[in-house]
Amino acid sequence: MYNLKKFRGAIRTGSLTATAMVLCACGGAMDGGQMAEETYVIKFPHVTAPGTPKGRTAERFKELVEERFPDKVTVEVYPSSQLMNDDDSLEALAFGEIQMIAVSLSKFDRLTQAFQIFDLPFLFPDLTTVEAFQASPAGQDLLNVISDKGFLGLAFWHNGMKQFSGPMPLRLPENAEGLKFRIMESDVLQAQVQAIGGNPQKMALGEVYQALQTGAIDAQENTWSNIFSSKFFEVQPYVMETNHGYIGYFVAVNPDFWLSLPTDIRTGVEDALNEATAWGNAQSEEINQTARNNVAESGRSEIVNLNDEELSVWRETMAPVWQQFEDQIGAERIAAAAAL
Ligand code: LMR
Repeated sequence: MYNLKKFRGAIRTGSLTATAMVLCACGGAMDGGQMAEETYVIKFPHVTAPGTPKGRTAERFKELVEERFPDKVTVEVYPSSQLMNDDDSLEALAFGEIQMIAVSLSKFDRLTQAFQIFDLPFLFPDLTTVEAFQASPAGQDLLNVISDKGFLGLAFWHNGMKQFSGPMPLRLPENAEGLKFRIMESDVLQAQVQAIGGNPQKMALGEVYQALQTGAIDAQENTWSNIFSSKFFEVQPYVMETNHGYIGYFVAVNPDFWLSLPTDIRTGVEDALNEATAWGNAQSEEINQTARNNVAESGRSEIVNLNDEELSVWRETMAPVWQQFEDQIGAERIAAAAAL
């Protein structure tokens, strides 16, 4: 694990300027009077398992880049929080210690409020709608909103729609009263859980299984692929099929690193990323459905289907969260997304 404690604070106070400390592992040593060719390493840590939409897309990106630039560019993918958690990876990227991230859009609160739109409950009914928004001018603008803070956005990757899991069937929001819910680092998600009478606890993904197992928390929300691959279904007897929110990723590089790449390499890596993005986003829904089936077949967790009436009570109970964050997110941006 990287020790990033010393950097903590700079990013929170906004005093950070984008300085890439180590851009890449570069060659350049003299060899018989010839400069050896420069090589580039893209360190890319993330927190989900290799079989998830993000895990597979990251591997696909690595394959494509290394096929295109053999012995010249290496992509080192570190899945499952092996190298660091998301919080630390935000700091490591801004300081140029790593070169690439794909962090959940929910986890950028301390850097921008613009991504909060993706956390509004029941705003996006499915991935097709999210994709239409991300491809629109309002969505594409979001790729650049934090480039001055050391995060140049290159793509959005999908995971999928979120489901709640808990110790009992939560057919209505009133069943969630008083339960401790793990959430990602997001004020919108905090407000969402408060709206249903729950007690929100921000926590890194890697700590959730144990917290559920020991009873430190009672419930959580996540996609099918994360519920399955992180084994939450083993310690949560009920998963409610609510599809109440979205998890997707902001794929970003350190701008100084990016601009330091020779043009042909930068273009080639960007092409590989675009290809991997299209490939991954096209199968994220199916990966989540397979994970859902695996949870159902496990016999460890019961899937609770909610009827339209029950779902509309969830929707109405969470609706005030939209108004609560309207000023921060921008009424126009919300209206553009809702119109889709
Ligand atoms: C989470 O923390 O639950 C998610 O951000 C995990 C992920 O990256 O999909």
